[in-house]
Amino acid sequence: MKYILRILMAVIVLSVVCVERIYGEEVSLSYKENVGRLTVGGRPFVILGGELGNSSASSPADIERIFPKLRRMNLNTVLVPVYWNLVEPEEGKYDFSLVDKVIDEARSNGLKVVFLWFGAWKNSMSCYAPGWFKADYKKYPRAQAEGGKPLEIASAFSENVFEADSRAFTEWLRHVDGYDTDATVLMIQIENEIGMLESARDHSPIAQAEYDKGVPSELTEFLKKHKKELHPGILARWQKNGMKMSGPWRDVFGDDIYSDEYFMAWNYARYVERMARKARSVIDRPLYVNAAMNSRGRKPGEYPSAGPLAHLKDIWHAAAPTVDVLAPDLYDKGFVDWTAQYHTADNPLFIPEIRQGRENATQAFYVIGEHDALGISPFSIEKGNDSPDYPTVRAYALLSELMPLIGRHQGRGTMTGLYFDADSTERVIKAGDMVITANHYFTLPWDPRATDGSTWPATGAILIEVAPMEYILAGTGVVLKFEKDTERSSAQTLGEDGFLNSGADRRDVKSWNGGSRIGLASVDEVDVMPDGGVKYVRRFCGDETHQGRHARIGVDDFKILHIRLYQYK
Ligand code: DGJ
Repeated sequence: MKYILRILMAVIVLSVVCVERIYGEEVSLSYKENVGRLTVGGRPFVILGGELGNSSASSPADIERIFPKLRRMNLNTVLVPVYWNLVEPEEGKYDFSLVDKVIDEARSNGLKVVFLWFGAWKNSMSCYAPGWFKADYKKYPRAQAEGGKPLEIASAFSENVFEADSRAFTEWLRHVDGYDTDATVLMIQIENEIGMLESARDHSPIAQAEYDKGVPSELTEFLKKHKKELHPGILARWQKNGMKMSGPWRDVFGDDIYSDEYFMAWNYARYVERMARKARSVIDRPLYVNAAMNSRGRKPGEYPSAGPLAHLKDIWHAAAPTVDVLAPDLYDKGFVDWTAQYHTADNPLFIPEIRQGRENATQAFYVIGEHDALGISPFSIEKGNDSPDYPTVRAYALLSELMPLIGRHQGRGTMTGLYFDADSTERVIKAGDMVITANHYFTLPWDPRATDGSTWPATGAILIEVAPMEYILAGTGVVLKFEKDTERSSAQTLGEDGFLNSGADRRDVKSWNGGSRIGLASVDEVDVMPDGGVKYVRRFCGDETHQGRHARIGVDDFKILHIRLYQYK
């Protein structure tokens, strides 16, 4: 039944939005029916990644030292910056030795690489531009805040800036294309966290001249064509102001700095589109851009204004169609919410940066299961813990083992991601006429840490429906109960010892509704084989399933369970 519902939903979505993009041969990315799929050599590949700290790929000795550790951490991919100021220290003279070193070390440690072009912009600023570029501010003008204050942000409106940045970018990619003979390089990030700070938009004379031209018709035509899929924010602002097809930015979208942000987003995205076309002309790899989030109640210019943010996705898509993915960098609260905002009918989810911590393990299970994510990558990974017992290290090992199954189930609507913490402890999943109630493991009273004031750790899992009434559950710190939807209305009456609580509500016992019930036929710990089949490790029953009432994985365990259900009356 769940299969039929999922297929029906997929058909409905497909009739509204049909985005299909396929790139590359060795490395390919397709995005179809809300499912992003990265393949390497024809096989599905999910990035179990980590991004190096900003300065960690600037010396061959550091690269040599760091990469073996990444392998020990079970990464399959490392995200590595490429610094314009080291690539082109003198104008027109290039040095790609660090880039070659990265590819060599990745190869010998069995890692793939995603390269990040730290070119004209890095976290809004232009600190990675070479000295010769910075000093010649007349030729390479800076953006200005509204009062005329010059910022160390190269102006996106300068043809000279684009010329210099894109020339180095293209030379570098041409070199990568020649050197990367075995598709070690998976994807390319263009710039890093683009965005205006201090002001919502560039107020320099060249920027102002562009602003005065008003909203381009390409943008309003795009909004009209994609009206049904627009972010509600931009749709509301456009509608409120009469859905004009042209006019000054603040007339078309409203008289505030958010319209200035739209203007700036359009122009950053147009710049990036030109970079993306250059890239595509020399190398066949998926391209993406990353964004710093607009969190903590900040306004445009307080946060980096106009980057590839969720509320600006339509502007970015209109102006930069060659870019494959708009990607969030997640450092603030709201992980589940941000991931949902970035997995849309027109954008696959990829998390190139996330704050490093023990919770990365469960975040990885969640985004792959819930959003068919292309991958996840904690930041400053080389500083992480490489002990085989560390959660992320264990999670990456488990996810690598699961990869054949994940590849098979991507996009079929048969995977669910679970993510719990102290604030979010339950998820109820409707699966046809069955209800699966998944909880944080600490909702069970058995572990003293559940009630002794300890902070509940983030826990999570991937749940895969491998066949009707048959599931694979892989992860940590979760407990799952399977019931008929008719049954769930009855109260839960068991004490922690498994007996009825004194005075328990027994309405369902006294007058049963006559329906059938679901039981656990078996719960086995298994290994997943390279062909996606499972190999028996041990059986869990008795106390380990609360005498057949649930399937669970403790908070200190990382396991794969094979759960078979049956019905009885
Ligand atoms: C996000 C940036 O993209 C990274 O390069 C880095 O600066 C982190 N923030 C914070 O350290």
